[in-house]
Amino acid sequence: MSGIKAKISGVGMYVPNKVLTNRDLSALVDTSDQWIRERTGISERRFVSEGESNSDLSVASIRKVLSKTGYGPEDIDLIIVATVTPDMAFPSTACVIQEKIGASNAWGFDLSAACSGFLYALSTGAQFIETGAYKRVLVVGTDVMSSIINFKERSTCVLFGDGSGTVLLEPSTDDIGILDCLLHSDGSGGKHLCMPAGGSQRPATHETVNEELHYVHQDGRAVFRYAVKLMTSVCREILERNGLRPEDVQLFVPHQANARIIDSSVARLGLSPEQVLINIDRYANTTAATIPMGLAEAEAAGRLKSGDLVLLASFGAGFTWGSILVRWGS
Ligand code: ACO
Repeated sequence: MSGIKAKISGVGMYVPNKVLTNRDLSALVDTSDQWIRERTGISERRFVSEGESNSDLSVASIRKVLSKTGYGPEDIDLIIVATVTPDMAFPSTACVIQEKIGASNAWGFDLSAACSGFLYALSTGAQFIETGAYKRVLVVGTDVMSSIINFKERSTCVLFGDGSGTVLLEPSTDDIGILDCLLHSDGSGGKHLCMPAGGSQRPATHETVNEELHYVHQDGRAVFRYAVKLMTSVCREILERNGLRPEDVQLFVPHQANARIIDSSVARLGLSPEQVLINIDRYANTTAATIPMGLAEAEAAGRLKSGDLVLLASFGAGFTWGSILVRWGS
């Protein structure tokens, strides 16, 4: 090993301006503010306006990171974009972003792991720093879920929102940075959470559109059960293999899919509510964006101090799940 760690030297987020409250949704489907709050913890979410795309949200969150860290776009070596709602199937959203921000020295690619996308991308970006290959890697978790949810289906349309979060990775030679990554997938879970059409297996046709196959389809109860079980076990495993206890963690930033999933995982892990970042109430599930958005809000609120141990965890379609331990500091 080189002895180089990848540290998160900057973090930023962006959400679109348009707010949709639970009450707004109850005008579209048979639901209520009370049901959504009690079953999910969500009060409102942000949605893009017409003409606003995933890359626009990402560019806004990247610009915040660049202005905080003082770098220009030409200083960036690599852009990794975790998303399941790219601007287009191709070219990659990373290439669209590269052009929009003018990162003329960077290359980039998209990575698909749904709600675990940011953790997969963070781990991937960290490798390029740890090997010494690159000095500045942007890792973006970003999704426009409003583009793939069925606004006639009450059990899914209330769960999601749009947003983008970005971190900058740079080399660190002290104890600050990404300490460990533990990532998993199990393709047998794919049937429980997917967008059935629009890919090469079932290209878009009038029939697939009529059958509403271009939206998120999920077995909510199955996803809920696996999410609690696997997020808990992966967090236990990463803490144990690093000789750490739950009380050593200053901040737990879990993927925000449902407040009840977070509460159950937190209780099983033996963490206290003060150790946990929750912002699902205002943004709902923004898929790959929830964790970097959580980090950005925690930093802005003064909840992240140099030397803090931060535990990240996710679970999503695939199934994919994982956990990353970070010693915070820039
Ligand atoms: N408003 C009112 N009633 C509703 C709504 C709604 N929005 N949605 C469902 N219901 C009803 C159901 O129809 C059902 O009624 P019934 O008993 O008459 O049949 C009742 O509420 C209970 O339904 P359940 O599905 O059992 O409700 P549950 O408590 O499981 O909550 C939920 C459903 C919120 C979807 C939950 O299962 C969940 O959060 N699952 C995990 C979802 C998730 O994390 N998805 C990740 C996707 S992200 C990605 O990777 C792309």
